Amino acid sequence: MRHDDYVRTYAPRQDVRPARAGSVMPATSRPAADLSAAPVAGLDAYRVPAEPYYRAVGDEVDLYEAAYSVRLPVMLKGPTGCGKTRFVEYMAWKLGRPLITVACNEDMTASDLVGRYLLDASGTRWQDGPLAMAARLGAICYLDEVVEARQDTTVAIHPLTDARRILPLEKKGEIIQAHPDFQLVISYNPGYQSLMKDLKQSTKQRFAALDFHYPEHEIEAEIVAHESGAGLDVAKNLVHIAERSRNLKGHGLDEGLSTRMLIYAGSLIAQGVAPLGACRMALVRPITDDPDMRDALDAAVTTYF
Ligand SMILES: Nc1ncnc2c1ncn2[C@@H]1O[C@H](COP(=O)(O)OP(=O)(O)OP(=O)(O)O)[C@@H](O)[C@H]1O
Ligand SMILES: [Mg+2]
Repeated sequence: MRHDDYVRTYAPRQDVRPARAGSVMPATSRPAADLSAAPVAGLDAYRVPAEPYYRAVGDEVDLYEAAYSVRLPVMLKGPTGCGKTRFVEYMAWKLGRPLITVACNEDMTASDLVGRYLLDASGTRWQDGPLAMAARLGAICYLDEVVEARQDTTVAIHPLTDARRILPLEKKGEIIQAHPDFQLVISYNPGYQSLMKDLKQSTKQRFAALDFHYPEHEIEAEIVAHESGAGLDVAKNLVHIAERSRNLKGHGLDEGLSTRMLIYAGSLIAQGVAPLGACRMALVRPITDDPDMRDALDAAVTTYF
């Protein structure tokens, strides 16, 4: 797919190992955090260098700008592959803010977000985590699939997402007052949560939310054509197939075909793969192993190709 070369996901450095428990130096004698002394240029790697293609679907751009202007934390809700990540990349570019993205998972600890002491050749030093770096230097921090993180990790964002806008670094004995440009954005897929894995009300109620859905037919076809390089007619047929699949949600499919999958199929077709084979490979096979569902989706494919 095009336009993905600006995506920067935060990854902790691998060249140093975490300090052993109990080896933490007293707060007064600790070395200054690398990033507190670092110039704002430290965020340059997280700038979105070129305008991402984003096709607005409604008034989400205006609403987000209004939320950013008062630094409201924002939650993007919607199914997989519907444009949430692309939207936040576009908004970061439009607002001229660096974007630090963290893919959340259940093994993530608060230290992964906030920071930790590391051992390297010259001793022990503090390294800000992505959330601390964003708060300190004024980036937009995007926590993708935040519900995957354990609740004790999620509460680390609480003091940053209320009127205090602070991030306590308990192990370091420091409280970061968030930079005026800092904003927190999280994504959340309401469909996939179980009761055990939902955000606490005290977390939810710290955010304004924007709902994302798959766009209406003409707009989705435009996006698929643009992103895949397939013609508009092909893109329209792919969207028809997706619409059929979305009607099967809850009747054998957990989720319908996403815009992302349509772009995959369109890209294969644009490469010269026959549409039937492209759709089977990119749309039908990945989404279900159920023979009846595969038959139903194959039938939709043959209706349009
Ligand atoms: N409104 C849009 N404008 C431009 N491109 C879009 C739009 N919606 C979706 N896309 C395309 O669909 C792809 C998938 O969207 P994206 O990665 O933003 O989904 P997502 O909602 O973040 O999914 P997930 O929840 O799985 O992370 C994007 O790479 C982009 O090519
Ligand atoms: Mg995403």
